[in-house]
Amino acid sequence: STPSLLILPGDGIGPEVMAEVRRIIDWFGAKRGLPFDVSEDLVGGAAYDAHGTPLTDDTMALAQDADAVLLGAVGGPKYDVLDFSVKPERGLLRLRKEMDLFANLRPAQCFDALADFSSLKRDVVAGLDIMIVRELTSGVYFGEPRGIFEDGNERVGINTQRYTESEIERVARSAFDLAMKRDRKLCSMEKANVMESGVLWREVVTRVGAEYPDVELSHMYADAGAMQLTRWPKQFDVIVTDNLFGDLLSDLAAMLTGSLGMLPSASLGAPMSNGRPKALYEPVHGSAPDIAGQGKANPIACILSFAMALRYSFDQGAEASRLEAAVEHVLAEGHRTADLLGEEGRAPLSTSAMGDAILAALDAS
Ligand code: NAI
Ligand code: MG
Repeated sequence: STPSLLILPGDGIGPEVMAEVRRIIDWFGAKRGLPFDVSEDLVGGAAYDAHGTPLTDDTMALAQDADAVLLGAVGGPKYDVLDFSVKPERGLLRLRKEMDLFANLRPAQCFDALADFSSLKRDVVAGLDIMIVRELTSGVYFGEPRGIFEDGNERVGINTQRYTESEIERVARSAFDLAMKRDRKLCSMEKANVMESGVLWREVVTRVGAEYPDVELSHMYADAGAMQLTRWPKQFDVIVTDNLFGDLLSDLAAMLTGSLGMLPSASLGAPMSNGRPKALYEPVHGSAPDIAGQGKANPIACILSFAMALRYSFDQGAEASRLEAAVEHVLAEGHRTADLLGEEGRAPLSTSAMGDAILAALDAS
C-alpha cells in the first residue's frame, strides 16, 4: 500500500522550506512512480493559535499512525511569553516522547562545493558523509538520583549516568540497521576505561554485533573519538554513542560541514508492525524568525531530511541518493541561498528559486 507521510510545517521558515519539500515529494510521485499518502497538520505556535495547544491529541494520533513524520520547525518570539506547558517546543517534545524516539541520527555530510565553509581543511572534509547515532531518551540527562543535595556543610550536585541493557541494545540495533544501509562500518564510542555504563555499553554493543556479521564493528573511547573526528573524519561511517557524548560529538561533527541551513536529522524509535521504525525527520535548524516570511530560507536541510526518510523509512536508498546528487549538482553549479554566500557580493537565490533549481536537476537526472 502507499506509504503515509505526515507533514508538520510548524512556524517561521518551517512552512516556507516545507513548501519546497512538498514539490519534491510530488516530483517523486509523478516522475519516479513513488507516491506518498501525504497529510498535513499543525504543530507548535501554529497549533497553539488554532487550538490553544502546541500539539492536539488528533495530530498525535496521526503521527503514531504515519509511516514517517516530517517536521519543519517550531517557535518564535510571539510565543516566548506563553506558559511553559503550551510553548511550541512542547509540541515537539511530546512527539519525541510519545513516539519513544530513542535514536537521534545526525549526519555530517560535506558537499564538495561547500567544503570551504568548514572550520577544517578542505581535503579533510570534502565528500565527507558520516552519521552519528545518539541515544536520546536515557543516560545522564535522565538517570536518578539527580538534584542538588545537602552534604555535610556544603551542597552537592548529582546526576546519574544509567543505562539498562535493553536501552543499549535497542539503540545499538538501530545503528547496526543503519550501517547495513550504508557502508557497513560501525564505531561505538564510550569511556569503558573509567565508566561502568561504558563497560556495559561495550559488552552489549558487541553482543548485538554478533547478529550483524556483515558490519565491521570497532570501539573507541569517546575522547579519542573527538580527536579522530577532527583529525580524519572520513575514517568513520556510522558512530553510535550515548546521550551526553552524542550531544557533544554531533555538534562537533555538524561544524565539520558548515551551514545550519544544510543539516538534516532523524529520530527513530522501535520498529512498527510493518517493520519500519517509528520516525521523525526534521532539519537541525529552528524557525529562524529573523528571516521568516522573506523567502530567504535555505530549504536544503529540510529537503535532505526527506532524503533521509526515503533511505531509512522507505528503503529507497537509490532515490535518496538521486535527491542528494541533485542538491550536490545545484551547489556545484554555484546556486546559493543567502546563508551560503558569506561575504560574496552576488545576489542570493530565494527559497523557491533553490527549489526550482533542485527540481530542474532532478528532471535532468
Ligand atoms: P535558528 O536555527 O532558528 O536560527 C539561527 C540562525 O541561523 C538565524 O540567523 C537564522 O536566520 C539562520 N538559519 C536557520 N535556518 C536557516 C535556513 N534554513 N536558511 C537560512 N538561514 C537559516 O535558531 P534560533 O534563532 O536560536 O531559534 C529561533 C527559534 O527557533 C526559537 O523560537 C527556537 O526556540 C526555535 N528552535 C526550534 C527548533 C526546532 O523546531 N527543532 C530548533 C532550534 C530552535
Ligand atoms: Mg547540543
